[in-house]
Amino acid sequence: MTGPGVNRRALIGSALALAACERRADAQTSPANLPTLRSVAPFPVGTCLQAVQLDDPAFAALVAAQVSQLTPEWEMKMEYIVQDDGSLRFEGPDKIAAFARSAGIRLFGHTLVWYAQSPPAFERLDVSRIAFDAAYRNYILAVAGRYRGQVSGWDVVNEAVAEDGEGWRDSLWSRKLGALNHMVLAFQHAREADPDAVLFLNDYNLENIPKKRATFLKLAEALLKAGAPLGGLGTQTHVAADLAPGELSRTISDLASLGLPVHLSEMDVSITRSEGLIKDRTRLAAGQARVYAEAAEAFSSLPPSQRFAFTHWGLRDGDSWLKRENAADTPLLFDDQGRPKAAAAAWIGGLR
Ligand code: XIL
Repeated sequence: MTGPGVNRRALIGSALALAACERRADAQTSPANLPTLRSVAPFPVGTCLQAVQLDDPAFAALVAAQVSQLTPEWEMKMEYIVQDDGSLRFEGPDKIAAFARSAGIRLFGHTLVWYAQSPPAFERLDVSRIAFDAAYRNYILAVAGRYRGQVSGWDVVNEAVAEDGEGWRDSLWSRKLGALNHMVLAFQHAREADPDAVLFLNDYNLENIPKKRATFLKLAEALLKAGAPLGGLGTQTHVAADLAPGELSRTISDLASLGLPVHLSEMDVSITRSEGLIKDRTRLAAGQARVYAEAAEAFSSLPPSQRFAFTHWGLRDGDSWLKRENAADTPLLFDDQGRPKAAAAAWIGGLR
């Protein structure tokens, strides 16, 4: 974006750096015969998945070969778990948990409290605060308790910071239980349900909106000060192929400055959402590879104790939520057939 406040020299400088990085990504070894992601990453590497995808043997084999952590893409969200009558269903997440167990892959819980999901059964609870409070606690105890000992961690609160970084989002949960208090309670209930899971605050657009990143970090500090058992910071990393060089590295090191483990929790690099720095559309795949290389390099440079996991939001392009929105997008490391792309070679090449 070229606004009036943008320094032209910085922009030209980053365009040149981008061209240099693209050349480097092009020079990567051919993606065929690449080692698997999990065999070369010195930290857990994950993907998201939906239970139904496990019926595809090629998908299940790719997942088992490539990753060491699994995040249910939607079946651990309230939208799936909470039924209209308020009862809870666990068929989908149980199927994913069973697959993870049998494949020796760890599971990551996503997500307990999300502003975007407030099931009718909770909306209808037009009762005293105490009853709402109890229903909220019971939900978190039931869900986090069910997978106790099976998950490495939980996204306890997802996307709490306002879109533009000005303060926090309004939601059913914040209105009923308080802006900060609903988050503190969620962390405490999750801790009660699962004493060993690492409990995360997770958010997106932390790379390209510095103000959002600052508010996110302040929120993490406020939670810690209020006694919430916050154990890690998640940065989703849904980015585009023309992300300016340096933004990802800055974000990862800013997040690490709090000293907590970092989860790069939902990475994909959209081609179709790119609209800025790369004018020549034929260079977008190389830009995508560059972004993946920078992410791998920046994450690798964290102290080992702060590298919680690096999760890709899908493996094959054809399975990506972005592709469901725009069929022309190809945001992941593997093509529709599960063959590694230049982006996979670049990600592996970025590992340190
Ligand atoms: C998305 C899933 O990929 C979609 O399949 C679903 O329909 C909507 O949610 N941030 C998050 C994820 O924390 O849960 C979202 O996943 C992507 C954005």
